[in-house]
Amino acid sequence: MNPPPRPRRSTPISPASPLRFPEDFLWGAATAGHQTEGNNTNSDWWARETRGDPAIADRSGDACDSYHRYPEDMRLLADAGLNSYRFSLEWCRIQPEPDYFSRAEIDHYRRMVDTCHEHGLNPVVTLHHFTIPQWLAAEGGWRHPDAADLFARFTEAILPVVSEGVHWVCTINEPNMIASSTRQDATGLLGNLPQSDPQVSDVLVEVHKRARDVLSSVPRIRSGWAIATQAVQAEPGGEVLAHSYSYAIEDFFLEAARGDDWVGVQAYTRTVIGPNGPRPVPQDSETTLTGWEYYPSALGYGIRNAWDLTRGVPILVTENGIATADDTRRIAYTHGALTALHQALDEGITVRGYLHWSALDNYEWGSYRPTFGLIAVDRNTFIRTAKPSLRWLGDTAKANALAR
Ligand code: BGC
Repeated sequence: MNPPPRPRRSTPISPASPLRFPEDFLWGAATAGHQTEGNNTNSDWWARETRGDPAIADRSGDACDSYHRYPEDMRLLADAGLNSYRFSLEWCRIQPEPDYFSRAEIDHYRRMVDTCHEHGLNPVVTLHHFTIPQWLAAEGGWRHPDAADLFARFTEAILPVVSEGVHWVCTINEPNMIASSTRQDATGLLGNLPQSDPQVSDVLVEVHKRARDVLSSVPRIRSGWAIATQAVQAEPGGEVLAHSYSYAIEDFFLEAARGDDWVGVQAYTRTVIGPNGPRPVPQDSETTLTGWEYYPSALGYGIRNAWDLTRGVPILVTENGIATADDTRRIAYTHGALTALHQALDEGITVRGYLHWSALDNYEWGSYRPTFGLIAVDRNTFIRTAKPSLRWLGDTAKANALAR
């Protein structure tokens, strides 16, 4: 089966008119538990931070204290004009021990869903965003022989969180990055590019499918998973290498999403591969606080690749953003990314929404330095300050149109 054809729009658009988005388009911002909640002490990441890993500059500590302050986070997004909020559940809070599920924590996340609705925000709930309970990490993490059973059991336990008023559920955030972070033996031509572990990749596909089965008991839920797209571009002579890299790290996971209700596209920058491996970011290119090339069109590449490889599964942009201290660059980047998204809509691709990463300046897996937020967070007082980019994205959402 080929992807559905991409009809061209018949009505010509004048160059000055704003780019309009489909009715019911989701406009939102995303976060993840470990990066914002604070004191996630039962997680594998907390243990890693505590051990003093040399790759970790900062410990997460109190993070943004969103475990307590989430109503304020949601209010700021809603007041700006956004209509959606993506957040994740912390498995290790809900199941801190193999045979113990905390009702109080399940209630906590249910209150988050209710608070979304009080603010007119459509919740997008991620079941797993990188962190696992310490007890599971001690037993091999995703290599545990019963990994799929364990996650299915967790998914059953959290059904009260999503059983009412939740349409969008993401089973696993970036399985492709999880599969690469668990591989240790990757060397050779691909240099420091992430390379996935095939065994863990297969396990994650099974975990995803089992979780979707459990979620299918709630008719209203639409489930999918969210893939880190890489906008892989081959230079002459690099085609074979680019293809094999792209297949293992991205395409395999998109193909596994065929038949899902939706697929999440996450995009930040591009990867250029020449005959001898990945090309460094050109010296004269603008880079962000993560060292990545400023490349807003990455989103268009991610969307097209997802649409083609899933054979037409509806797309939700679950993350896209930039780490910068200059908020004018955040607005420019997001404008570029939304223009690329709109181009994909024009080509006939179904995109259901855009969730910016991130709502808050948060814990960027080892450091607080790369600031991705639409909202600044004072690290001592936790006082939130909306940035101009939040106002800009909220205005775009309210208009459901992007000024050119
Ligand atoms: C992850 C986020 C992360 C962001 C920026 C994505 O890979 O899902 O947790 O903060 O990229 O690095």
